[in-house]
Amino acid sequence: MQYGHFDDANREYVITTPKTPLPWINYLGSEAFFSLCSNTAGGYSFYRDAKLRRITRYRYNDTPTDSNGRYFYIKDGETVWNPGWQPTRTPLDFYECRHGMGYTVISGAKNGVSARQQIFVPVGDSCEIDRLILKNESGATKTLQVYSYVEFCLWNAVDDSTNFQRNFSTGEVEAEGSAIYHKTEYRERRDHYAFWAVNAPLDGFDTSRDAFLGAYRSNASPEVVEQGHCTNSVAHGWAPVGVHQINVTLAPGESRSLIFVLGYIENPAQEKWAAPGVINKAKAKAMMARYATDAQVDGALESLKAHWTNLLSTYSVKSGDEKLDRMVNIWNQYQCMVTFNMSRSASYYESGTGRGMGFRDSCQDLLGFVHLIPARARERILDIAATQFPDGSAYHQYQPLTKKGNLDIGSGFNDDPLWLIAAVSAYLRETGDFSILDEQVDFDNDPALARPLMEHLRRSFNYTLTHLGPHGLPLIGRADWNDCLNLNCFSETPGESFQTTGPSEGPVAESVFIAGMFVKYGREYADICDHLGLDDEAAQVRAAVVQMEQAILGPGWDGAWFRRAYDAAGNPVGSSECEEGQIYIEPQGMCVMAGVGVEDGQAVRALQSVAERLDTKYGIVLLQPAYTRYHLELGEISSYPPGYKENAGIFCHNNPWVSCAETVVGHGDRAFEIYKKTCPAYIENISEIHRTEPYVYSQMVAGIDAATFGEAKNSWLTGTAAWTFVDVSQYILGVQPTLDGLRIDPCIPHAMDGFTLRRVYRGATYEITVDNAAHVEKGVAAVTVNGQAVAGQVLPLAPAGTTVQVAVTMG
Ligand code: BGC
Ligand code: NOJ
Repeated sequence: MQYGHFDDANREYVITTPKTPLPWINYLGSEAFFSLCSNTAGGYSFYRDAKLRRITRYRYNDTPTDSNGRYFYIKDGETVWNPGWQPTRTPLDFYECRHGMGYTVISGAKNGVSARQQIFVPVGDSCEIDRLILKNESGATKTLQVYSYVEFCLWNAVDDSTNFQRNFSTGEVEAEGSAIYHKTEYRERRDHYAFWAVNAPLDGFDTSRDAFLGAYRSNASPEVVEQGHCTNSVAHGWAPVGVHQINVTLAPGESRSLIFVLGYIENPAQEKWAAPGVINKAKAKAMMARYATDAQVDGALESLKAHWTNLLSTYSVKSGDEKLDRMVNIWNQYQCMVTFNMSRSASYYESGTGRGMGFRDSCQDLLGFVHLIPARARERILDIAATQFPDGSAYHQYQPLTKKGNLDIGSGFNDDPLWLIAAVSAYLRETGDFSILDEQVDFDNDPALARPLMEHLRRSFNYTLTHLGPHGLPLIGRADWNDCLNLNCFSETPGESFQTTGPSEGPVAESVFIAGMFVKYGREYADICDHLGLDDEAAQVRAAVVQMEQAILGPGWDGAWFRRAYDAAGNPVGSSECEEGQIYIEPQGMCVMAGVGVEDGQAVRALQSVAERLDTKYGIVLLQPAYTRYHLELGEISSYPPGYKENAGIFCHNNPWVSCAETVVGHGDRAFEIYKKTCPAYIENISEIHRTEPYVYSQMVAGIDAATFGEAKNSWLTGTAAWTFVDVSQYILGVQPTLDGLRIDPCIPHAMDGFTLRRVYRGATYEITVDNAAHVEKGVAAVTVNGQAVAGQVLPLAPAGTTVQVAVTMG
């Protein structure tokens, strides 16, 4: 069953009922001002940091679901309705929501009046625009009242939802003209305020939530709207809101647009005040003036669309499979931008108040983003690397506003350092910009400890090398990629964090997954050394990698698959010797991607075991058999009911690893089959089972052991976006950035005749045609560039600004 459909020409998903199984959201903004916006106009906004600079308030896990946002109430006689249905939930005569690239348009109609709410964050500005276009579609004059509604958050979202003894007394606003200014704490240390303004004279306003809603009411039935006039309330403490009342009379066929701006302003300390107690509104007024007319808003929307057209033109394919094309060309790359911006901080599942930016998450997000805006990837790499400790280990998370490592969670996740190599290597392969390696970057955010970025990579590699366990495999620390495999935790106290309990450095528990990473990214690090002429270092690195491969194929090999780990007692995890959890997905994907066991058949055998033991119709589960009881020695993984999350859920993030791995051994049919199983566009028609948005990936789909097999959770913020883009763009379609140029090595279903692809790379455009008349799954028989044969599969670098025609014949 579907609740809408794709509109590829407009790069939109069109939702045709407000009653989607879960709120289906979009992200607006991709620089500093961000808004989350659901298909019923729910959601919230923040500036840079969802914890420290929250602009509007949201109640997670509230009932009814998703009942706070930017709302317009339209009062027509005694009927009150919202264009997006919520919060009044008055049945509509027409409803549609179009989620596009950085904008959302919600249209509703009731009793002969239509309302279109266009919502977006303009490129280069710190505000959300909400344009409301009303039209009288009836034959009689309509006299309407329109009320806008946003609820302000008192900046720090944690304090806002916990410290009521203080914050019920701090709220402050100013109302002037058609703008409401939210200035809580501006009197003291803050230098920022927000405003909610409209480009029309008001018939009233409210800034006190209690005055607007009335006692013991919800936003489903505000008293002011019922009574038909605002009270011009000024909030003192409690809950400041922004409400405008505008009375509108429309002749038959007449329409009217109202432009609302939710803005965020910072003032320098010496320019905070216009008069004692009166905020300096100059910048706010200038911002309002930028969006005062329809022509200005149209222009801003056009710029946003042009911005996305430009970004998405970097990589686009025509394959003859419309689902593949729409994911590669539109939604997968779009989600990569969102995960790059948010990491795992703010979604409808991540409250924005817990995790900041994850070290490993951000490094992986970069893999799917670096081709879009390399300059931002560069900046991110330098920020992340600055949170690394001098010994090469790393803070597991950092706060985006301060860019400082998060002490609450600390370090000890022993895969983290190697992800830095992965990210930098991806950046170098994309851009060829080796100057980044010379950048002086702090350790532990301390400028006194700054060293060139190359030294950070070296310490990353050496950290693993100097933290090996009894089998010569890397020590796992608190956990590796699988945050729930806590082999040094041994928690028996309810509520204790699995990620921070126990010694971070157990001397015994080892990870085969990190070993696979060490081989893959160790090789990439050696390539970087080669490029810099560091021959001795390259040779040492390669020798350590070979030794690690041997450890994987020795104690890391279980006979038919790669083991997952050794626990703190030295017992294998993910082995046929285990009672539960005999085989895990992660080492199969990572080790084969690294090339381990490809020569001698272990790689193919491991992937066969995945197909036999872990595959389901909705994707590959993380492990089998699921843990049915709590295993003290394994930690959080066994805390989940069987089939959910890391305990044998279909963790979408590592499905592409196995798909990539299948291409390494030449299985194009299987790689694509795996790709399709979790790919949103291919499972749109089971939206009633899947439940999350059919245009983006979710972190997890309930596995075969779960009662709700096939049900997804945690949509949007997942490393799945980046890894799937890497899988489909580099491993399946086979256009791979290397340090020397683009390498072409497709691995596709044999039935595919070929495809054409446009790739902008280091300033040049490559128009690539792949011909698979031979109907093979992998193998390149010939390559020409502008008609000239090329030896090998790496294309010569074309000068920036030029376009070259590349013809690839598979066979
Ligand atoms: C989740 C993991 C997550 C970890 C750290 C766990 O509860 O299951 O997916 O990585 O928390 O935040
Ligand atoms: C989600 C976390 O954000 C990520 O860092 C981790 O690798 C996965 N969960 C698996 O536990």
